[in-house]
Amino acid sequence: MDSIILFYKISFFAVLLISSHMFAEAGNVGVNYGRRGSDLPSPTAVINLLRSRNVDRIRLFSPDQDALNALRGSGIGVVLGVPNEHIQSIGNDPNFAGNWIWNNVLSFDDVEFRYISVGNEIEIPSDMSDYILPAIKNLNNALRAAGRTIPVSTTISFGLVVDSFPPSSGRFSDSTQNVMRPIVEFLVATRSPLLVNIYPYFSYNGNQQQIQLDYALFTANRVVVTDSGNQLQYTNLFDAMTDAAYAAIEKVGGDGVDIVITESGWPSGENGDIATIPNASTYVNNLISHVSGTSGTPKRPGKSIETYIFALFNENMKTADRIEQHFGLYYPDMGEVYPVTFR
Ligand SMILES: *[C@@H]1O[C@H](CO)[C@@H](O)[C@H](O)[C@H]1NC(C)=O
Repeated sequence: MDSIILFYKISFFAVLLISSHMFAEAGNVGVNYGRRGSDLPSPTAVINLLRSRNVDRIRLFSPDQDALNALRGSGIGVVLGVPNEHIQSIGNDPNFAGNWIWNNVLSFDDVEFRYISVGNEIEIPSDMSDYILPAIKNLNNALRAAGRTIPVSTTISFGLVVDSFPPSSGRFSDSTQNVMRPIVEFLVATRSPLLVNIYPYFSYNGNQQQIQLDYALFTANRVVVTDSGNQLQYTNLFDAMTDAAYAAIEKVGGDGVDIVITESGWPSGENGDIATIPNASTYVNNLISHVSGTSGTPKRPGKSIETYIFALFNENMKTADRIEQHFGLYYPDMGEVYPVTFR
């Protein structure tokens, strides 16, 4: 009898623990706040908008002083990007790195920095890619010297992962491995995540013969792919891509390194039938419920996946590709492109 009561108490306690854990994980979805628009609202208005929607994480591509000032005291967690053009100086010169940390991190002691990302989708190998790890180390040292522990990492494009089908065969190509291996080893040593941009949209768009739309939009609700390497079963492309990235990381010594998804999204215009508001809404809302639940991916099950939606606004100054202007959740006047439920 006693042991039954004890068992009952323990399971009740376990349930409490599990549910408080789930609440703690609930706010793991953020948005990318880019500012390449001529008509965007002020950072203060933007931060108020985010707070009104219970969004408590954002990613900045650069240490935009107006945005950082607006974030003071907001409690919003920030992934702070080091622009690609600063990486060489930071990697070459510890003093430059120290000043960068002072000006953009320590001076904002009432901003909650989650990670610092050295660069965004730097081409590997390239002249610049040789500076990624030295820059990570110099920034990390500067933070330590100031008594701060903010994980410093880099943001890679999923394009670095080759042989991504089936997911277990994912790897970094021979030419990128020499750069990625020491970076990943450093992330293991500092217990920092690798930041990865993952877009099922681009995979689907480039390979409609072999990829079904429902698999890309999280609406398949059936096993679409069974990985011939490890028998893991996939119902959505996002998980398959994420696990291919995990496979690549493990092959360069990164067991235990977590992935944070720094970008994922679906455009709502400029690509015919595919980039429609309904398809974008389906993808983004299903993505949010998937990553904030505790299913995880087949390879890393049982935990939510920290993810940043790309992007907050439609930005009219992004000119490389017209589609890039149509990833926003909001129009510049802060009207919704489509409704998004954050939690
Ligand atoms: C979503 O994309 C598919 C594939 O291009 C298209 O056929 C379909 O009409 C789109 N659905 C909506 C509701 O826009």
